Amino acid sequence: MNTIGVLTSGGDAPGMNAAIRAAVRTAIYKNMKIYGIERGYDGLIKGDIKEMNVSSVSDIIQRGGTILRTARSEEFLTTEGINKAVDVLIKYGIEGLVVLGGDGSLRGGAELAKRGIKVMGIPCTIDNDLAYSDFTIGFDTAVNTVLSAMGNIRDTSTSHDRCTVVEVMGRNCGDIALYAGLAGGAEFILVPEVETDLNLLCRKLVEGIRRGKMHSIIVRAEGVKISSVELADFVQRSTGFETKVVVLGYTQRGGSPSARDRVLASKMGNRAVELLLKDSESRAIGLKGSDIIDMDLTEALGMERKWDQEILDLADILSI
Ligand code: F6P
Repeated sequence: MNTIGVLTSGGDAPGMNAAIRAAVRTAIYKNMKIYGIERGYDGLIKGDIKEMNVSSVSDIIQRGGTILRTARSEEFLTTEGINKAVDVLIKYGIEGLVVLGGDGSLRGGAELAKRGIKVMGIPCTIDNDLAYSDFTIGFDTAVNTVLSAMGNIRDTSTSHDRCTVVEVMGRNCGDIALYAGLAGGAEFILVPEVETDLNLLCRKLVEGIRRGKMHSIIVRAEGVKISSVELADFVQRSTGFETKVVVLGYTQRGGSPSARDRVLASKMGNRAVELLLKDSESRAIGLKGSDIIDMDLTEALGMERKWDQEILDLADILSI
């Protein structure tokens, strides 16, 4: 195979640029032609494509976002849309595609794979919700962004004897809340995977205040049923403790990627192109322990996520 493409799709994630750089530079090093496709599957359907060279990816390893831009394409969800995308790939002679994105983006890649395109999926999402990979690119940076915000919130909460509900992203996955909550010493972590006893939560907060705690932080993942405002109202009414809400929102999606995300992205981008060079069948690139792995794309997307209850229990013990 000597002509390939790279695209980023779905929500952006810090480290996408580092992965694009790794894919482009590996391809050029191996004398392959590589096209950058703009705005994900939307741009692919429209033929928004340009050839990349060594300097197309200069000075981007440290940048958040994606130089290729991204989109969530409605048209690509239809059979006509997918067929149009395949026609464009054939027109450009692109035999293999590196897809950077989350679950939906990799599923889009699997549709192209069914139509004969070799697709290498790289897990890029702050949510960390892909079962086949221990971690996804962007997750570590997002957790660090939340931690930094929690530090600031802790200062002001202490000054005012307040409780704060910090709402974090993750869609239906509680991993950002879980890791940031443990690392940031949150009093409580609410995730969609586990039902929380709110009365118990309030009792714990009151006990903490009695023992002299000057602030409390509750990290709530966005996928939890009770909203942050409802939760704050409930806590304030039940404990008498003034409770504020901070929604961190898109701040978690931007920012310079952490060293961990850059290293992961560099290794995965490289692996994806090496596999295409070998003309391998479509694969999902992932991380298991400290190893970069690849496995059948469809099989990877069929796996079910396991919830790490031990981390939640640990956070609970350490935040008494
Ligand atoms: O998948 C990444 C993510 O940031 C989720 O955490 C969040 O629920 C969603 O994307 C937001 O999507 P959008 O960018 O379309 O608002």
